[in-house]
Amino acid sequence: MSSISVRRIKKSFAALTILHSVDMEIEKGEFVVILGPSGCGKSTLLNVIAGLEECDEGQIVIEGKDVSGLEPSERGLAMVFQSYALFPAMTVRRNLSFGMEIAGTPKATVAEKVAWVAKLLQIEALLDRKPGQLSGGQRQRVAIGRALVRSSSICLFDEPLSNLDAKLRAETRVELKQLHETLGSTMIYVTHDQIEAMTMADRVAVMHKGKVEQFAHPQSVYEKPASLFVAGFVGSPAMNFLEGNLDGLGRFVTGDVSIDTSAYAFEGPPLAREAVLGVRCENISIVERGTPQTIPAMLAFTELLGADALAWFDCLGKRFSVRLGVEAARSMRKEVGLRFDMAKASLFSVASERRL
Ligand SMILES: Nc1ncnc2c1ncn2[C@@H]1O[C@H](COP(=O)(O)OP(=O)(O)OP(=O)(O)O)[C@@H](O)[C@H]1O
Ligand SMILES: [Mg+2]
Repeated sequence: MSSISVRRIKKSFAALTILHSVDMEIEKGEFVVILGPSGCGKSTLLNVIAGLEECDEGQIVIEGKDVSGLEPSERGLAMVFQSYALFPAMTVRRNLSFGMEIAGTPKATVAEKVAWVAKLLQIEALLDRKPGQLSGGQRQRVAIGRALVRSSSICLFDEPLSNLDAKLRAETRVELKQLHETLGSTMIYVTHDQIEAMTMADRVAVMHKGKVEQFAHPQSVYEKPASLFVAGFVGSPAMNFLEGNLDGLGRFVTGDVSIDTSAYAFEGPPLAREAVLGVRCENISIVERGTPQTIPAMLAFTELLGADALAWFDCLGKRFSVRLGVEAARSMRKEVGLRFDMAKASLFSVASERRL
């Protein structure tokens, strides 16, 4: 049985459709990340699941029970919001215990839970301070703790790390992931940060304009993006794209260059059509200019990244990135040929923008 079923959810604000029939089956204990650009409908979807926002059509089923008509408090979920509001006049201890006190939880249990969550999130030393006396990261952990003490088997997070600096973000990310492993609860985590998505998720739902374009393991989203949008959104630097035509005879043709596609695993029959070839910077090798089946390229500049380097080339009117060793980048020739590893490339239909 799925932990959470999102079934054909539609949602509009006035004339604007925000969610177009979203479907998602989330397994028990899964860490699902909803990833997408600002404004694509992530928070709206999370709010519909939590019951904070009513949907126009569709159903939310939690652990086998249709909760579509239920109040947020009746759905048995814990949620951490995009802006974590703590009660400023209360100590950290009180911020953590308040919800349980309101719910009439026995005093001893409240104390036990506060002690447990404080130890888990390493905020024991802060329990008697007020939010104003905490750093941003500490406040964020208190907000997360407040959701966890509800001991709900499902936690929803809406960009919980958005206000932290890069270092703290990275640390809290690891803590949250470990927490998920310790607690075994189902988590849905909204972010527009693809590093969070790649590192934390069991599965990522990539959203674009109110639709889920792909719902899969982060590695398959990276290696086999289901659409042009996913290919361009996931990965840094962005995937390199080249427009051309599949000739129906097993070749991708662009300008004077024709590339054999026999190493490529097509999803369907490789019919002749306009197509986009996508290749990541680590799947391109540098060869002599004029080698058959390679793209002529002119070096624009190189970037040293510490562990490795990126060389940027101008080819066929586009800028291409190639990942290289630092030494290879230092001694890069001006005029080269680029060979694409077709087994690791992606092909998309121009008409449907879907993977071929
Ligand atoms: N109450 C509302 N009334 C009208 N439009 C709304 C309302 N809430 C959200 N929207 C619109 O719906 C769209 C999706 O908003 P949503 O908050 O779900 O985006 P998001 O993916 O969470 O973005 P972000 O990453 O910026 O938080 C946006 O265009 C937003 O302006
Ligand atoms: Mg949002």
